[in-house]
Formats: sequence, structure tokens, C-alpha cells
Amino acid sequence: MGFGLFVSMLVLSFFLKPLSFQQQNTDGYFVSEFFKKMGLPPSSQIYNSSVHFCSWRGVFCDASKEQVIELGASGLGLSGTIPDTTIGKLTKLQILDLSNNRITGLPSDLWSLGSLKILNLSLNQISGSLPNNIGNFGLLQSIDLSSNNLSGEIPESITSLVSLQELRLDRNRFEQSIPIGILGCESLVHIDLSSNRLNGSLPDGFFAAFPKLKTLNLAGNEIYGRGSDFLELKSITTLNISGNLFQDSVIEIFKEPLEVIDLSRNQFQGHISQVQLNTSYNWSHLVYLDLSENQLNGELFHNLNQARNLKHLNLAFNRFTRQEFPQIEMLSSLEYLNLSKTSLIGQVPAAVSRLSNLHTLDISDNHLIGQIPLLSVKNLQVLDVSINNMSGDIPVSLLEKLPWMERFNFSYNNLTLCASEITPETLQSSFYGSLNSCPIAANPSLFKRRSTRHNKGLNLALVLTLSMVCLLAALLFLAFGCRRKTSMWAVKQTAWKEEQNISGPFSFQTDSTTWVADVKQATSVQVVIFEKPLLNITFADLLSATSNFDRGTLLAEGKFGPVYRGFLPGGIHVAVKVLVHGSTLTDQEAARELEYLGRIKHPNLVPLTGYCLAGDQRIAIYDYMENGNLQNLLHDLPLGVQTTDDWSTDTWEEDDNNGIQNVGSGGLLTTWRFRHKIALGTARALAFLHHGCSPPIIHIDIKASSVYLDYNLEPRLSDFGLAKIFGNDLDEISHGSPGYVPPEFFKLENESPTPKSDVYCFGIVLFELITGKKPIGDDYPEEKESTLVSWVRELVRKNKGSVAIDPKIRETGPEEQMVEALKIGYLCTADLPSKRPSMQQIVGLLKDMEPSGNQ
Ligand SMILES: *[C@@H]1O[C@H](CO)[C@@H](O)[C@H](O)[C@H]1NC(C)=O
Ligand SMILES: *[C@@H]1O[C@H](CO)[C@@H](O)[C@H](O)[C@H]1NC(C)=O
Ligand SMILES: *[C@@H]1O[C@H](CO)[C@@H](O)[C@H](O)[C@H]1NC(C)=O
Ligand SMILES: *[C@@H]1O[C@H](CO)[C@@H](O)[C@H](O)[C@H]1NC(C)=O
Ligand SMILES: *[C@@H]1O[C@H](CO)[C@@H](O)[C@H](O)[C@H]1NC(C)=O
Ligand SMILES: *[C@@H]1O[C@H](CO)[C@@H](O)[C@H](O)[C@H]1NC(C)=O
Ligand SMILES: *[C@@H]1O[C@H](CO)[C@@H](O)[C@H](O)[C@H]1NC(C)=O
Ligand SMILES: *[C@@H]1O[C@H](CO)[C@@H](O)[C@H](O)[C@H]1NC(C)=O
Ligand SMILES: *[C@@H]1O[C@H](CO)[C@@H](O)[C@H](O)[C@H]1NC(C)=O
Ligand SMILES: *[C@@H]1O[C@H](CO)[C@@H](O)[C@H](O)[C@H]1NC(C)=O
Ligand SMILES: *[C@@H]1O[C@H](CO)[C@@H](O)[C@H](O)[C@H]1NC(C)=O
Repeated sequence: MGFGLFVSMLVLSFFLKPLSFQQQNTDGYFVSEFFKKMGLPPSSQIYNSSVHFCSWRGVFCDASKEQVIELGASGLGLSGTIPDTTIGKLTKLQILDLSNNRITGLPSDLWSLGSLKILNLSLNQISGSLPNNIGNFGLLQSIDLSSNNLSGEIPESITSLVSLQELRLDRNRFEQSIPIGILGCESLVHIDLSSNRLNGSLPDGFFAAFPKLKTLNLAGNEIYGRGSDFLELKSITTLNISGNLFQDSVIEIFKEPLEVIDLSRNQFQGHISQVQLNTSYNWSHLVYLDLSENQLNGELFHNLNQARNLKHLNLAFNRFTRQEFPQIEMLSSLEYLNLSKTSLIGQVPAAVSRLSNLHTLDISDNHLIGQIPLLSVKNLQVLDVSINNMSGDIPVSLLEKLPWMERFNFSYNNLTLCASEITPETLQSSFYGSLNSCPIAANPSLFKRRSTRHNKGLNLALVLTLSMVCLLAALLFLAFGCRRKTSMWAVKQTAWKEEQNISGPFSFQTDSTTWVADVKQATSVQVVIFEKPLLNITFADLLSATSNFDRGTLLAEGKFGPVYRGFLPGGIHVAVKVLVHGSTLTDQEAARELEYLGRIKHPNLVPLTGYCLAGDQRIAIYDYMENGNLQNLLHDLPLGVQTTDDWSTDTWEEDDNNGIQNVGSGGLLTTWRFRHKIALGTARALAFLHHGCSPPIIHIDIKASSVYLDYNLEPRLSDFGLAKIFGNDLDEISHGSPGYVPPEFFKLENESPTPKSDVYCFGIVLFELITGKKPIGDDYPEEKESTLVSWVRELVRKNKGSVAIDPKIRETGPEEQMVEALKIGYLCTADLPSKRPSMQQIVGLLKDMEPSGNQ
């Protein structure tokens, strides 16, 4: 029987409850009408006729369970104008939150809700003006109408809102001046009227009227005022009047307990330093200060360092007098520092490195000189040093951070950069107006992306077409009176050879006692080994590693000077290159240059291991390359013949303690696949130097003997960047080695090297790789007394390129590929530098023909 009663009660309650709200003029009815008419279907989870309305989501009722006191319907997609006789009839309503919907209008009976304490209609599309009967909300504590489309004046009747603590009308289209009536709302704690169209000045006594006011935001209006308006500022901690028409001095504003001060984008004037002289403001309370875009002048704050808690400082775009960078090293909380266009001169003090929380640093548009200081990069996300006069290298720590930063800008300075992990687009846009042409990053993975984007054949075809056009022009040119030049070239080539043999700059006194003696105390001269700074190697160690630079350890007498082989303490196998000619660089400059070269890393470059400045000599120390250089391998030179800059021939026989047994040059280089690998690796190295460095590094001395094979038989280019340390005084140095001299250097006496001269030399190396012949003095069938370049170019022109292919590799791969590679060499060796492709294009072309696996 008990069970039966229970069941009937359940059934009863099921039928009774729906009835209780379907009745008109109950709160349940008003709320369900509201949802229905605002576009919510009855089937939605929000209001369910099977459930008592007081249990609906967001609905809270009084104890009687008949009247709604709170309705929260934020973000439900409610749309349209709220009709009368819905929520306007919830007479006990205290809290109404309809924020973040698509409401466009309010019901006229809304204003009768005299119990309302909290009203949030923000983030809707309500338009029209506020009626005067807003004054009915005598109990209102918080009103948020922000982010709507409300217009007209703010009604004077808000003066009745005596309990109002929070007034948010920001991001609307309210206009005219702030009503005097607002002075009646004396409980206000937060006022936000920002981003409207308010104008006029603040009502008299504005700051005296609100004894409890903590935050005031009037930003983004057209409010007019003076510093003296703020004399009665009392309790405010956060003041934002950014983007208005305030003028005069800012001195009156700096008062306790202000922590956040945003006066940016106004017309404040006066000497900013007086703020610290004439106020008793305790700067250690300051957290945020933005004075940017005013007309402040004079010198900056004398002791910013007092502001220990400052996180955000923006003084940008003012009219300060020329001055040194301010002292800010004690501002350890600083996260944002913007001193853009503040007339700064001199260097950025090293002490900025102590700002370890720095997220944003903008020092653009000043007159700063010197190097970019070391920065604490841990939190750094935005860096702008553009439009200054800074020079030198970008510090390594920063360089490594760049790819992970949101934004950086080094434009319009005189900085150098070599980075492989930044996209070309970024690099370009961040290096506008740098002294050299646009740098483009060149790491191998970038090329991968590049080459897949382009159509293989099209690329080559296009370049070929272009070059055929110029070829025609060139042929015409040749036909008419250009015969003289060819002979001139030949003469020059021989003159060169003779020079080299007789005396000239290239012979070095290998009896090195002359300069070794310059070094008084060998143990006091440091040898810098970049990766092992703790090893403490000195010149004395270099002496013992090379038996006092004895002939026995001499690997080669290269163009830049003699090269010795040795083992440094710690088992470091090195090639020691003594740069004989010296240059106009001071020791300090040379060291900086060598440090810079030491940081340039690429899988296809012979790494600079370290250096030493001993007396007048600059000594470059390289990783030792176990597998010799291309010239030896390719031309199968008899052992014992020391070619220019070759520091490996002697290892060829003796060295048996490395993994690769000396296969003999024949063995190594007899496949197309391997020769292609060498060509591609060398091209990548050059592309990196040309396009991944700013300013670009021009190698100047590309030749077969500059390409080495490391322990893993990876090709590596050596001697990059040496020309600069070597000095500019020697024209010959900067004009390549015999057989590798680009034609422009014969035509014009003072032609300086460009990346395109490197491209020419690379073309010759490419020809060597495919034909197996030397650039000059070899046997070129069908055309005696010629050079490799003229021979191959003639064959390519006649479409008989395959004749030139080295018989040793002919059978080891597709002949079309080798012929195509000859065409690339043909493009590289174009007479006119401007017709030669860039190294980046060459990498793309070579990559597109990568021989497949099994060759
Ligand atoms: C309404 O509530 C009842 C009882 O809790 C439930 O069975 C039904 O599925 C609900 N309807 C909707 C549309 O959520
Ligand atoms: C009003 O609602 C919005 C969105 O839900 C919210 O961000 C805001 O803080 C609310 N306003 C007040 C004064 O609580
Ligand atoms: C805002 O209101 C004005 C009229 O005051 C109207 O012309 C405009 O279309 C409205 N904008 C939006 C986005 O509702
Ligand atoms: C304020 O702006 C209105 C137009 O929105 C204009 O009529 C009025 O003259 C302005 N008042 C002042 C003091 O600039
Ligand atoms: C001041 O208001 C403007 C506009 O709303 C805003 O961009 C700025 O961040 C505000 N300043 C502070 C300190 O919040
Ligand atoms: C601030 O002090 C300087 C001298 O220290 C004085 O010349 C100037 O008039 C003062 N300014 C104000 C606004 O008190
Ligand atoms: C400034 O305030 C800090 C912390 O509130 C206090 O330690 C310091 O003594 C004050 N300095 C002055 C000059 O009043
Ligand atoms: C620095 O301030 C200026 C002026 O307000 C502004 O244009 C620039 O974007 C700011 N820089 C950064 C990095 O925020
Ligand atoms: C840049 O600095 C150099 C000295 O480092 C100076 O000679 C040159 O005039 C400066 N250029 C500008 C535009 O300030
Ligand atoms: C740029 O910097 C280099 C040194 O890094 C210096 O030799 C050169 O004169 C500078 N150029 C200008 C215009 O300041
Ligand atoms: C860097 O600054 C220059 C000069 O102000 C500007 O032209 C360029 O757009 C800026 N680049 C980036 C990436 O912000």
C-alpha cells in the first residue's frame, strides 16, 4: 500500500509541476516566453517543461520557489530585441546576466526592475540610447553594458544610482560630455567609459566625488583636460586616460596609491624629469607607466631605478632632449620596455642584460651606436632595434633565440647575421635597409621545401631560355671586335703563374723563425678553441704540436700562407693555417672577425676550430679533414706533389688510424652519385654563405682544392671569410686562383668580387666533377690551347655535352642527369655575372636531379 501511494505521488508531481508555470503571469511563464521568443527551441536543454523552472540552468528562485531572483543566460545565442512582458516582469529579479548573446534591443519594462543589483548586458549588439528611467535602479551595484552599439548621451539620471560600485559603458558609441549627474554615484569603485565618443571636459570636482574609486578608464575618447584636473586624485590605483586630449604637465597626476598609469596618446607637455623633482610619489609602487605619444621634453627620469616593481615602461614617441640610455638595471621586474624614438644616443649599456624578465624591448628609431648588448633572452619575445646606427654581430645567445621569438626587427642598422633557422621571408622583412642586399636563410631543410614547390623542369627551362637569349647577344658581341679580350685573358693567366713562381705575395718563408721569435713568452699567448674554452691552450702548445712549425709538419703552402698539421692537447686533430700577409685590421678587429667565422656553422663548411693572435701573425685553426680535397681525389695527383692549399696529401698514405681506408682517389670518386653529392654539398655551403648571412660572405677562392671530404665523406668547403682578415691590399687574392678567374676581373681592373664571381668558380668545379678534367692545362679533345670552360661551353652550346662526361662515371648514372648538370655549369660560367643563377637556384636545380638510391 505504501508503494502505491508513492507511485501516485510521483504521477501527481509529474502532472502538477508543468501546470504551475504554464499559467500566465507566473515567473516561470515569463522566463519560458523569454527563451522561446529569443530563439531558443523548447527542446533545448535550457528550459524543459518537464522540470520546475527554478531548477533550470541559470535560474535561481526565492524561498517560495515562485519568484526568480537571478537569471543567468550568458552565451546562449539569444538574438533579437527582448520583448515586453518577459524578463521585465520578473519583479524580484536582483541579478540579470545576458552577456555575450546577439541581443539587439531592450524591452521598455526592463527599467521597472527596481530590485536589480547586478546587470550585465555586455557583448551584445544593443543599439539606441539609454533612457532616463535607468535612474529607477536605485539598488544597482554593478552595470556592465560594454561592447554594444549604444549611442546618445549618458543620461543625467544615473545620479540616482547611489549604490553603484561598478560602471562599465566602454566600447559603445556614447557621445557628448560625461554627465554631471555621475557625481552622485559616490559609491563607485570602478569606472570604465573607454572607447566611446565622449568629449568635453570632466565635470568639476570629478575626482573629489568618488572617495572609493580605484580604477578609472577614460581611454579612447575625446575628453579634454589639464594636469591640474587631477589635483584631487585620491584613492585611484589604476588610471587610464590614454588617447584623449589632455594637456599640460603630468606632475599633478603622480600620487599615491597609483600603481598603473597610462597617459599615452595625449598632448601632455613639460619637462618629464620634474616629476621626480616635484612630487613625493613613492616610485616603488609603480607597476605600469605609459607616457608614450605625448609631447614631453627635457631629460628622462633621473632615477628610474627607484621603480623596483615596474613591469611595463613605455616612454616612446616624445620630444625628449638627446640623452644617454637611462639607468634601468635595477628594474628587475621589467617585462616591457619601449624607448622607441626617445632621442637616445650612445651605446646601450651592458647592464640591460640584468633585466631577466624582459619580454619586449623596443629601442627603435634612436641614435644608438655600438653593438647589440647581451640580453637575457629567456623571456624575450619581441625585439625592435630598427632605425639606429648599431653595428657588429648579433650576440649568439640572441641569434639562437630568434627563431622562437614572436617578432624581431634589425632593419636600418649595420649589423651582421648568419642564421640558418629563420625563414627567408622573416629575415628579409627584419633586415630592411641593412647595408647589403636582402639576406635569405639557407639551411638544407628550407631548400627541401623550396624545391618541391617548383616544377622541376620548368625551373631549369626558364633559366636556360633566358640564358640562350643573352647567349645570342653575347655571340653577336663576340663576332664584332671582342677577339682581343680572349687573348688578353690568356696573357693574364700566364702572367699570374709566373708571378707566383718568382716572388710575389704567395711565397712564404717557411723557415718560420723570423716571426716565431716575435712571440716573447709563448705560454702567455692564448689559443682560443671555441668549443673547449676551458682547455687553456697556448701558443706553446701550437709550437709543440707543429714541432715549432717545422717543415716536417707542413701540409701545404697555400695562398693564404703555410698550413701545418698537428694534435693539440685533448687530442684535437687540427690544420693550422698561418695567415702570412697580415692586414690593416687591428688585433681586436681580427679577433672579432675570427670569432664571427667560428660561429658560422653549416654541415658543408670546414669548421673553424679556433684561432691565435701571435705577434703579427693571425693563425686560423681548422678541424682536420681526413679524406683530402677534391683536387687530389679528382685529378688523381701523384703523392708528394703539393698543390695550393692542400693539407692532406701526406695523410693519404700514412694515416691509417681513421675508419676510412684510403680507397685511392679512383675508388672514391668513380660514381656519378658521389660526384653529385659533392656538387650539391658545395653548392649548399655557398648558398648558405651568400644567402644565409648578412652581409653575405663571398668566398672569393672557390676551387677544387677548397672542397674537402670529412671523416664521413661529406663535402666541406674551407677558407670561407678569410679574405677579409687577410686584408684588402692584395687585389690578386680577391681575384681567384689560376684557372678559376671570372671574366669580369679581366675586363675591369677594379671589379670587386660579388656572389656571382663565386658562382662562376663553382661552375668550373662542377665541370671538373663531371668531366674529370682540370680547369686549365689539361687535354681537351677537339680544341687545343683552350680551357675547360671554353671547351665544355662549346659542347653544351652544340648540344653535345655528353662528349665531355668523364668516362669513369659515364656508366654509373643516367647520362641525361650529367648533361643537365653540365648545363647548370654552363649557366654558372656565363660571361655576364648578372646572367648567372644564384647559388640558391643552383641548389634547387641540383637537388631536383638527385640520383636515386642504388647507384
Ligand atoms: C526534460 O526533462 C525530462 C525529465 O528530466 C527528460 O526526460 C527530458 O529528456 C528533458 N528534455 C529535454 C529536451 O532535455
Ligand atoms: C559581464 O559578462 C562578461 C561576459 O560574460 C564578463 O566578462 C564580465 O566580467 C561581466 N561583467 C561584470 C561587471 O562582471
Ligand atoms: C549601430 O547603431 C547604428 C544606429 O545608432 C546603426 O546604424 C548601426 O547599423 C548599428 N551597428 C550595428 C553593428 O549594429
Ligand atoms: C562633442 O561632440 C558633438 C558631436 O558628437 C559636438 O556637437 C559637440 O560640439 C562636441 N562638444 C565639444 C565640447 O567638443
Ligand atoms: C588603456 O586603455 C586602452 C584602450 O582601451 C588600452 O589599449 C590600454 O591597454 C589600457 N591601458 C592599461 C594600462 O590597461
Ligand atoms: C618643480 O621644481 C622646479 C625646480 O626644482 C621648479 O623650477 C618648477 O617650477 C617646479 N614645478 C612645479 C610644477 O612645481
Ligand atoms: C616606498 O614604499 C616602500 C614599500 O611600500 C617602502 O619600503 C619605502 O620606504 C617607501 N619609500 C619612501 C621614500 O617613502
Ligand atoms: C612602442 O611604442 C610605440 C608608440 O606607442 C608603438 O607604436 C610601438 O608599437 C611600441 N613597440 C612595441 C614593441 O610595443
Ligand atoms: C653611425 O655611426 C658612425 C660611427 O660609428 C658615424 O660615423 C656615423 O656618422 C653614424 N651615422 C648616423 C646616421 O648616425
Ligand atoms: C658598418 O660596420 C662595419 C664594421 O662592422 C664598419 O666597417 C663600417 O664602416 C660600418 N658602416 C657604416 C656606414 O657605419
Ligand atoms: C622593421 O622596421 C622597419 C623600419 O621601421 C619597417 O619598415 C619594417 O616593416 C619592420 N619589419 C618588421 C618585420 O616589423
